[in-house]
Amino acid sequence: MKQVLAIYYSQTGQGKQALDAVLKPFSNNTDFKITYLNIKPKNPFPYPWSYMQFFDAFPETVNGIPCELEPFQIDTTMSYDLVFIAYQPWFLSVCVPINSFLQSNEAKILLKNKPVITVINCRNMWLGAQEKMKQQLINLQANLVGNITFVDHASNLTSLVTVLAYVLKGTKEKFLGIFPKYGITQVDIDKAPEYGKIILDNFTTSQLQLIQPQLIEKGAVSIRGNLLLMEGRGRALFPLYAKFILKKGEQGSKQRRMRVRIFGIVLPTAILLLSPIITILSRLIPVLAKRRFKQEIAYYAQNNLR
Ligand SMILES: Cc1cc2nc3c(=O)[nH]c(=O)nc-3n(C[C@H](O)[C@H](O)[C@H](O)COP(=O)(O)O)c2cc1C
Repeated sequence: MKQVLAIYYSQTGQGKQALDAVLKPFSNNTDFKITYLNIKPKNPFPYPWSYMQFFDAFPETVNGIPCELEPFQIDTTMSYDLVFIAYQPWFLSVCVPINSFLQSNEAKILLKNKPVITVINCRNMWLGAQEKMKQQLINLQANLVGNITFVDHASNLTSLVTVLAYVLKGTKEKFLGIFPKYGITQVDIDKAPEYGKIILDNFTTSQLQLIQPQLIEKGAVSIRGNLLLMEGRGRALFPLYAKFILKKGEQGSKQRRMRVRIFGIVLPTAILLLSPIITILSRLIPVLAKRRFKQEIAYYAQNNLR
């Protein structure tokens, strides 16, 4: 029997739902045993978040500063054949709980030389987080063989409103009667077992190198060209502002509240104001720099780090 390890963190269960849907062909197959590892911070992150708590998590998330975790509820000395990691991007980085796990001694043992599939659930910006994930997996000598993304399909400005309602107010249905429900759709969940089947078939025949190309072909990787530019700006600027806040103190400290508050106003405002400009630029770039643009999309769809 082949052993599958499914590591996950999810505040509202969306990420776990996506992971379960991908794993369906494995759970229906008696040749596989799935062991779940739910990553739990010692001090759980709140849901819904208060405005301050949400933006105060920014510096540690961007700088990859780990939090303390509850002891892992599995046998960490066991050897697994295939590992799934389901996570969310937070501020264009790997969310703190999963990033903390990746920095643990247990991760070094569990992931070394193992094929890994990442399952991302997010609003629409996951490229930067996955670049950090790729680096962490290289550090752990793990072998990233597949990546599946679940995104919100609304326009960038619409999902900016609905994700904030989702995380800050806990709104799980239509917001204000006009904004669509935030998050993964049932259609995407229903399609996910097809991705799982690709993984299972290629794992069984030891053709791991075929997993990602086939996942891409099936539509498992969602990259919005028009957000490449916006995410790129964020990834360049976030570390600078994170450092600026960290200079004033640790998470929760009073001294840094003012800088956090400013960030909480500047970030949504910048997205709102820059969105139209970036949208126009993003329409021009694929025309003016067609080859480069295609190369960028192709790069982020695969699992190597440049
Ligand atoms: C602190 C925080 C930061 C987030 N930053 C991003 C982000 O950079 N990109 C993105 O697409 N989604 C972002 N999201 C949305 C999450 O990726 C995800 O969709 C949402 O938290 C629901 O996931 P869960 O309930 O499975 O934890 C963020 C959410 C939180 C709580």
